[in-house]
Amino acid sequence: MSEFENLLIQYQSRASQHLEEILPLDNSVLSLAMRYSVLNGGKRLRPILVYLVGEIGEASEESLNTLAAAIELIHCYSLIHDDLPSMDNDDLRRGKPTTHKKFDEATAILAGDALQPLAFELLSDINDVDHRKLSIIKSVASACGHLGMVGGQIKDIHSDNVRDITSLDAMHFQKTGRLIQTSIETAGILSGLEAKEVELLKEYGSKIGLAFQIQDDIIDIESPSSISGKDQGSDEEQDKITYPSLAGLKESKLRAQDLAKEGKEILQLISKNTDNLSSLADYIVSRKT
Ligand code: IPE
Ligand code: IPE
Ligand code: MG
Ligand code: MG
Ligand code: MG
Repeated sequence: MSEFENLLIQYQSRASQHLEEILPLDNSVLSLAMRYSVLNGGKRLRPILVYLVGEIGEASEESLNTLAAAIELIHCYSLIHDDLPSMDNDDLRRGKPTTHKKFDEATAILAGDALQPLAFELLSDINDVDHRKLSIIKSVASACGHLGMVGGQIKDIHSDNVRDITSLDAMHFQKTGRLIQTSIETAGILSGLEAKEVELLKEYGSKIGLAFQIQDDIIDIESPSSISGKDQGSDEEQDKITYPSLAGLKESKLRAQDLAKEGKEILQLISKNTDNLSSLADYIVSRKT
C-alpha cells in the first residue's frame, strides 16, 4: 500500500472515530437510525479533504475534527434522502440496506432531517474567532441549500431540462461538487490560509467535485455491488441523465481525467506543499467505489 493510501485510511478512521463520539447514544429509534446511517462505512472523502487542507495551514486538530464531522453529517443526510423510494429508490448503501429498508421511510426521512441541524450545531461549537466561524457556516449552508446540493438534487429528479453537457455539469456541480468544494474552502478558512489561496483551492474543488460525480456515474455502470456497495445500474433503471448516458463511457473517463489534471494544475499556483491534494485528485478518478 502506498504512503498516500495509508494516509487516507488514517484520516478515514480519525473521521469515523469523531463521528462515533458526537452522535447521540440513547437507544431511541431516531438515534439508532442516525448512527446506522453515519457509522456504516463510507469513504469519508469530505472529512479527508478537510484534513488534507488542514495539513497546509494552521488549525487545531479539534476544530478540524468538528468541521469534518459536520460536513460528513450533511453528506450522510443527503445519502439517506437520495436513496428514498421517491428519489433514487435504492436498497443498498455502503454495502448495507439503505436506511429506509433497515428502518422505515418515515424514520429515514427524520434521521436525515436530524443530521442536518446537528451539523450546524457542531459548526457553531467550533473554537475559532466569530468572523471565520460565520464564513464557514455560511459557506456550508449555501453549499447544501437550494442553490447547492438540494437544488442539484431536484434537477436530477426532474432532469427534463438537462439535455446537454453544460446543463449536466451545472447539475453535477450543484448536487455533489458544491459540498466537496465547501469542505476545501471551509478547511482553508479555518486553517488561516490567505484569501488568494482559498480562492485557488475553491477552483481546485470545483474541478475535483465535478470529476467526483462523473466517476460516480461511471461506477454506477462498471462497479459490481460487491465493490461499490450500491445497486449497480441504478441510474439506467431510473432513466437518469448522467455523463455516460449523454457522452458515452469513454468520453466520461476522459473528461474525469482532464478535470483531475486541471485541478492539479491549479494546485501548482499555491506556494505550499499540495502533494497530497494532488494525489487525491488522482484517487478520485481512479476509484471503483
Ligand atoms: C456518493 O458519495 C454520493 C455522491 C455525492 C456522488 P460518496 O461516494 O462519497 O459516498 P460514501 O460516503 O463513500 O458512501
Ligand atoms: C447523489 O448522486 C448526490 C447526492 C447529493 C446525494 P447519486 O444519486 O448519483 O449518488 P449515489 O450513486 O446514489 O451514491
Ligand atoms: Mg441521486
Ligand atoms: Mg443515488
Ligand atoms: Mg450515482
